[in-house]
Amino acid sequence: MIYQRNIERIEELVKTQNEWRMSTINLIASENVMSKRARGVMGSDFCHRYAEGHPGERYYQGTEIIDEIEARVKQHLKSLFDCKHLDVRPISGTVANDAVFSRYIKPGDIVMVNSTSGGGHISHHRHGSVGKYSSNIINFPLTADGYHIDVKETINILQKVPVKVMIMGKSLYLFPDPVKELAPICRENGIVLIYDAAHVLGLIAGKRFQNPLREGAQVVNASTHKTFFGSQRGIIFSNMKDSDWAKIDKGAFPGSSSNHHLDTLVSLAITTFEYMVFGEAYAEQVIRNAKALAAALEARGFNVEAKEFGYTESHQVAVNVKELGGGDEVSRVLKDNNIILNMNLLPFDPLGKVSNPSGIRIGVQEMTRFGMQEREMEMIADFMKHCLMDGKFVGDDVKDFRKDYQVIWYSFDEDFISLENSQQLRSSHVEA
Ligand SMILES: Cc1ncc(COP(=O)(O)O)c(C=O)c1O
Repeated sequence: MIYQRNIERIEELVKTQNEWRMSTINLIASENVMSKRARGVMGSDFCHRYAEGHPGERYYQGTEIIDEIEARVKQHLKSLFDCKHLDVRPISGTVANDAVFSRYIKPGDIVMVNSTSGGGHISHHRHGSVGKYSSNIINFPLTADGYHIDVKETINILQKVPVKVMIMGKSLYLFPDPVKELAPICRENGIVLIYDAAHVLGLIAGKRFQNPLREGAQVVNASTHKTFFGSQRGIIFSNMKDSDWAKIDKGAFPGSSSNHHLDTLVSLAITTFEYMVFGEAYAEQVIRNAKALAAALEARGFNVEAKEFGYTESHQVAVNVKELGGGDEVSRVLKDNNIILNMNLLPFDPLGKVSNPSGIRIGVQEMTRFGMQEREMEMIADFMKHCLMDGKFVGDDVKDFRKDYQVIWYSFDEDFISLENSQQLRSSHVEA
């Protein structure tokens, strides 16, 4: 009986989560929502099955159907990212990173990464994946604003220090990293240039952010569920020689996973087709929204980072909230008002400030998926001002506001967000 009650409690909690999150403004920069159709194919028989290896070359019988699905996903993702090799088997961005890092980083190798306070991800650091293979980790030098890698200073360092692997891409990611500036030097010196596109994969697919492969990165690893609005998985792609790719192939399987969670692969297939149709219009609106929200916050007295560079070129906005109590307090107050985001170290914050850093990180990609545009960004900035600066409770107003944004755009879920509508969306962006 007690187990029955436990099961009911779990079911109730899931229902509460579903309802609650649909009534909030979610600004967590690493999340997104799947369409009804992508979510609808989850929970099928595939959630019980195994398919190790590649389509047509599996170790178990009974995989013909997933073989066709996986082959289709790969074929279309390759065309979306314009690449020769692509692996969809990593089960998350961190697993994709590990599959690649494990092949290129040897004990003692010097690895150059974005620092934690400069936005780098934990998997690039001592306690994460990179740290499993080498402890010689050095940070890219930053320019005075803290949001750009200092190219000149990096070249100076490379002349003195024998760096083996360079990892670009990060978690607090406002502006592109200098791939095209540093790739020639990497090639001359045999440095492997790896690009972690976890946050910006959807913006790359939508052709609104740097294309790291085209700019000279050897391999790209990413999550498929942040700006790319798919299921929670990972991806690796490259144009390297077949013999080099064979190493990464082994890194993905059996190096970092055996089965690759077929259930979520199926929904990624649906997302991939949505992205092929709607990706460019979506990425365009995401960046417009991020810029609009940054400007609206600044106009209301917030201390928005990187103002001199137009605030952002991605889905993210960074705000210094030290004067308002720090990132921990501010993010809690916002959560109590149904606005969800995370506190974040800002460049030059000491690492000891991790539990109450100076900043908050805002991502607009999920609210854009629910059809929000520049006008709604003004309203979000108003909500934030009212609760953080005027001390008002806006939680109920937020819930009311969110009622009008329940349909997932840039998908085939509803008739009115059809192909024609997407084309209209796209042309209205071109006209504006
Ligand atoms: C730059 C970067 N790389 C990798 C990851 C890890 O991705 P996942 O959560 O899919 O393992 C993240 C997560 O936010 C990230 O920001």
